[in-house]
Amino acid sequence: MSSLSSCVMLLVLMFTTNLMAASAENFDRDCQVSYGGENVAILDGGELLTLSLDNTTGSGVQSNNNYLFGRFDMNIKLVPGNSAGTVATYYLSSQGPTHDEIDFEFLGNVSGQPYIIHTNLYSQGQGNREQQFYPWFDPTTSFHKYTVVWNPQRIIWMVDETPIRVFNNNEAIGVPFPNSQAMTVYTSIWDAEDWATEGGRVKTNWTEAPFSASYTDFELNACVYSSGSSSCATSTSTNSITGSEAWETQSLDSEDQEKLLSVQEKYMVYDYCTDYERFPQGLPTECKQPTLLQ
Ligand SMILES: *[C@@H]1O[C@H](CO)[C@@H](O)[C@H](O)[C@H]1NC(C)=O
Ligand SMILES: *[C@@H]1O[C@H](CO)[C@@H](O)[C@H](O)[C@H]1NC(C)=O
Ligand SMILES: *[C@@H]1O[C@H](CO)[C@@H](O)[C@H](O)[C@H]1NC(C)=O
Repeated sequence: MSSLSSCVMLLVLMFTTNLMAASAENFDRDCQVSYGGENVAILDGGELLTLSLDNTTGSGVQSNNNYLFGRFDMNIKLVPGNSAGTVATYYLSSQGPTHDEIDFEFLGNVSGQPYIIHTNLYSQGQGNREQQFYPWFDPTTSFHKYTVVWNPQRIIWMVDETPIRVFNNNEAIGVPFPNSQAMTVYTSIWDAEDWATEGGRVKTNWTEAPFSASYTDFELNACVYSSGSSSCATSTSTNSITGSEAWETQSLDSEDQEKLLSVQEKYMVYDYCTDYERFPQGLPTECKQPTLLQ
């Protein structure tokens, strides 16, 4: 049996027996430093992670496990004050030249000016699918929840439970969709002063370093992938799926669609699907498909 069908079978099993439960990840137990260990702090018994960037290095942490489908929640408080030039991230990625990747990146700004929530998707190594948004709140004064829902039909990016983006499975018309490579969950902070803030015009002010972002309430409801097979049983602790929808089949109901359209109308800064100059040969195939009502 292929790993995918065994995962799907497990999903069906868990769905029907209603055993779905979220697992609260512990940064000490369930993650490892990817780089810049001297700028990583794990506090509160593994519940809180801070990643810092200074003039020597950024830093990053990654999950020990790899996952094939799931719901991934992270609460993040971004670098306060002058964060220009800095980029904090929360993303999923597999390895290699044909890797898949689902991104949240947070592009800093000078004090009082808005961050940009940058999203992207790679499938089979092909990216160039950016959508960017201004947050409708100050992301530096308190924690906000950033969620990736990844199931075989679609990927949904959510902020505080509001869907901001959806990428549907359009394999039927030849658009690769991430559904066979397990991904690791990553968080990081790094310097991107050459492009992040106003396209690189505003540089990092290093006298204000270190720049720190905090991460907490990392919750997974996902299929752990190991040695060629996938297990979706996460834990039997309290069910903390918000709302009534299970991630395995999650789609956008009419209320979600309204929220998404409203966010895209009011807060979207960039959409690759309307960037005709960038794609003179024609927009990517998926851009010609309806995003909603699928
Ligand atoms: C880096 O920052 C430290 C502390 O602010 C400072 O002492 C040092 O000179 C800086 N190094 C460089 C290469 O800018
Ligand atoms: C930073 O602020 C400027 C001015 O308001 C704005 O144009 C830009 O989109 C903001 N965000 C980033 C990441 O540059
Ligand atoms: C960098 O930050 C320092 C300390 O806040 C400030 O005095 C200085 O004017 C800033 N530099 C620039 C180029 O904004």
